[in-house]
Amino acid sequence: MTLPSFLANVAGVPAGLATLVEAVAGACSAIATAVERGVFDGACGNAHSENIHGEAQKKLDVVSNEIMISSVEQVSCLRGLASEELDSIQVIQHGRSADNPGYLLLFDPLDGSSNLEINGIVGSIFSVLAAPESGAEIDQSHFLQPGVKQVCAGYALYGATTMFVLTTGQGVDGFTFDGKSGAFVLTHPQIRIPESTREFSINMSNERFWDEPVRRYVRECVAGAAGPRHANFNMRWIASMVAEVHRILIRGGIFLYPRDSKNSQLAGRLRLTYEANPMSFIVEQAGGMSTTGGAPIMEIQPDQVHQRIPVILGSKLEVERLIQYHGETLTH
Ligand code: F6P
Ligand code: MN
Repeated sequence: MTLPSFLANVAGVPAGLATLVEAVAGACSAIATAVERGVFDGACGNAHSENIHGEAQKKLDVVSNEIMISSVEQVSCLRGLASEELDSIQVIQHGRSADNPGYLLLFDPLDGSSNLEINGIVGSIFSVLAAPESGAEIDQSHFLQPGVKQVCAGYALYGATTMFVLTTGQGVDGFTFDGKSGAFVLTHPQIRIPESTREFSINMSNERFWDEPVRRYVRECVAGAAGPRHANFNMRWIASMVAEVHRILIRGGIFLYPRDSKNSQLAGRLRLTYEANPMSFIVEQAGGMSTTGGAPIMEIQPDQVHQRIPVILGSKLEVERLIQYHGETLTH
């Protein structure tokens, strides 16, 4: 079953939303080609510019952003977009009709782009929110909705195969790009994250900057069978959130990019509206859980489109354990 037929016949989403998701998926297959062709098309290396987060942009960050925008801006029900690679939101004038208030799209066009030069896995992440019913002009405030309000979210993974993983609030379905037919085909219906796991994922080099509950959790994992968990754990770090979340969807695990004191100005490393929220929606729809440590990520009221947030997500029993450790620190 192809993605358009899935959207119409299985997910049963409104036609406008289906058109928007298909446009995002179309952009993702074009980004996959841009990534694959980068070395031949002179699109490798740095763009010699910075995004709003002060991160050096790769040429492919810029190219992917342009591909996404040009693909979705034609969709008649899209009223605005926000991107990791754009300083401010972009309002789309045509996107409103009397019977459909339309949608807002938030995305990270190329996540994990530090992996590009090593031919590692990268991806795209997106979130769809409903636009306001009122006749008001779209502004930044309309994008500041908590993650529980997401209509749809997903990611594309550019790995050994290109995949598109999607939730519209009815579980999580995974599609693989078939280069022969040029279509995304449903290959991973109704993905479920195993509840328990013995695999964790964190950038260990930041250990000295973490809060005590995260230190305790990792210390106990690393202690293995001789420690309080009475089990040996495995660790993975790909430095690409899309790849990390995908691994967790397929075989379980826990991913942490927690708050740290390395840069006390920042609440975390990852961005709430177009990284943490869509990934949390996917993970929770697959039976997993997501938290900052202190609160469910999707209940956080964003105050900026580019806001950062601590992220802990994955197999339910491990996330619950981390929530418990954070609670115990608070009460002592
Ligand atoms: O978007 C941020 C990101 O690239 C994530 O995909 C990834 O999890 C993280 O940064 C990698 O961080 P670090 O550089 O600390 O390994
Ligand atoms: Mn990113």
